[in-house]
Amino acid sequence: MCGIVGYAGPAPSSPSSRPVDVALQGLARLEYRGYDSAGVAVIDGEQVQVTKRAGKLQNLRDALGEDTATSSPVAIGHTRWATHGGPIDGNAHPHLGGRRDELALVHNGIIENFASLRAELEEQGYTFRSETDTEAAAHLVAREMEQTGDLTEAMRRAVGHLEGAFTLLAVHIDAPGTVVAARRNSPLVVGLGQGENFLGSDVAAFVDETKEALEIDQDQIVAVTAEGVRVIEADGTEVTEPKRYTIEWDAASAQKGGYASFMAKEIHEQSSAVADTLLGRLEGGRLVLDEGEIDESLLRSVDKIVVVACGTAANAGNVAKYAIEHWCRIPTEVELAHEFRYRDPVISEKTLVVAISQSGETMDTLMAVRHAKEQGAKVVALCNTRGSTIPRESDAALYLHVGPEIAVASTKAYLGQIAACYLLGLYLAQVRGNLFPDEIAALLEDLEQIPQHIQTVLDGSEQVEQLAREMKDATSVLFLGRHVGYPTAMEGALKLKEIAYIHAEGFAAGELKHGPIALVEEGQPVFVIVPSPRGRDSLHAKVVSNIQEVRARGAKTLVIAEDGDDAVLPYADEVIRVPQTRTLFAPLLTIIPLQIFSCELATAKGLDVDQPRNLAKSVTVE
Ligand code: G6P
Repeated sequence: MCGIVGYAGPAPSSPSSRPVDVALQGLARLEYRGYDSAGVAVIDGEQVQVTKRAGKLQNLRDALGEDTATSSPVAIGHTRWATHGGPIDGNAHPHLGGRRDELALVHNGIIENFASLRAELEEQGYTFRSETDTEAAAHLVAREMEQTGDLTEAMRRAVGHLEGAFTLLAVHIDAPGTVVAARRNSPLVVGLGQGENFLGSDVAAFVDETKEALEIDQDQIVAVTAEGVRVIEADGTEVTEPKRYTIEWDAASAQKGGYASFMAKEIHEQSSAVADTLLGRLEGGRLVLDEGEIDESLLRSVDKIVVVACGTAANAGNVAKYAIEHWCRIPTEVELAHEFRYRDPVISEKTLVVAISQSGETMDTLMAVRHAKEQGAKVVALCNTRGSTIPRESDAALYLHVGPEIAVASTKAYLGQIAACYLLGLYLAQVRGNLFPDEIAALLEDLEQIPQHIQTVLDGSEQVEQLAREMKDATSVLFLGRHVGYPTAMEGALKLKEIAYIHAEGFAAGELKHGPIALVEEGQPVFVIVPSPRGRDSLHAKVVSNIQEVRARGAKTLVIAEDGDDAVLPYADEVIRVPQTRTLFAPLLTIIPLQIFSCELATAKGLDVDQPRNLAKSVTVE
């Protein structure tokens, strides 16, 4: 899950730092992928010049200083999330390769057979200086270059020896205008400029520079120079027409725009984000997918839905389960992708697998998709990042269209994922005849009101911000909910753990009496997500009882309830209001105060909200 960037431009006539600047700018955009260390490499005359530092990108910027201006036409850069070897300078990328340090290479992923490769290369006289798996790849490409004299061919031959998941980028002193790259199970995209070209783990790396991009497929090798891009397959055949597309995200959407953090900005974008997810989707009774198609007769024969996802995306799946089962009457399971893959799940041609992933690159989810496809299931991907691996390997894809999400903790993508699930559920209900057209129309009409309600919640955020500041020294917070409030409680707890490092747990409110209530003591803060009293009476009444139970034991009750629900007033220390909507749509509103709470509390604690410790946004290792 490291971030990778590459640049090839015209050789600057005077020493210029453009390649390094482009690389640094790209790394700043990709820092969300990992921030344990960062480094860049350029070709400086007859040698490869590598600068790298442990810690955040600023350490690298400080190390580069003035004297690294270079007339190199190329640069590669890397921001790391450590797997093999701790986050120290020596393990940072780029790594040098070859007997004369003639090559530099950056890597995202894991090379599984690195130990045997290392033994082989050491025997051949190559010297290893780090603990990383990457150095084996660097020497391997350098060795193949010694034999072939062609950097693209050297990369092609080298990846033939590698096992695992990787994106590799390399520069070599004997090919000074070229950056060569390869990918297997890890992301890589090309940006097409005017007289310059770019490589990146995702388009965020170069979206400031160009909007034209090329998708690179599994096991392809790509060589970029200032003048052009060449793509070949693993067997050496030329790819004459790589898939070209235009990036919709604008550069400003990857800026903080006056907010203290990307997370705060992304929370406040949620009204338009959800509107964009919904825009023009269910037209003429058909769900407008972005890619691929699933035959309607097949959708009619589906006898089970399995949602696979991780983290926040899995919480979105858990919300979807309630809606899809209610509307479509199809048994729906939600499974953490890493558990699904190794459990020998029962799936068949009649199973519809829904893969939810903001990044489209989460390795656990990708492996689950592949496993499902091997068993004959059809896969629909709900993803945010165009050109990413999961949608490309699925049978059909619906993109969230919420724009780039930079903060590690997911917010607007979560809402987009839930909204996308609703669309899928309504479409299935329509195709299978579970709901009448007028029922679907009424549901859609209410769904289309949601962006407006989201804005209302956001406009009232001051109350929760104040609460968060007051509670900044809390050491434990519990979250309770029933029905769709349960996944909301889970997601509220996850947000607080992720960015504020506070012990937090989400529970099904009914489970409270079976154990968790033992945690409640005087002053314990407990958020309770209350369902609408206009929905099922018994559901609302049960949750109100749960509030009383924890309060009777000394809890501080922080109650999220819809406008007009006065039944909660006697038992709430604080009531946070959300607009009235259908029970099944409430998760698009009730999570927002919890997102704001975590974001503001972490900010008040002085923490790095966008880059919480030990995490990475896109986890591309299993
Ligand atoms: C990581 C991130 C989480 C995210 C999860 C799934 O663990 O830290 O915020 O929810 O991956 O990511 P995806 O891109 O598949 O939605």
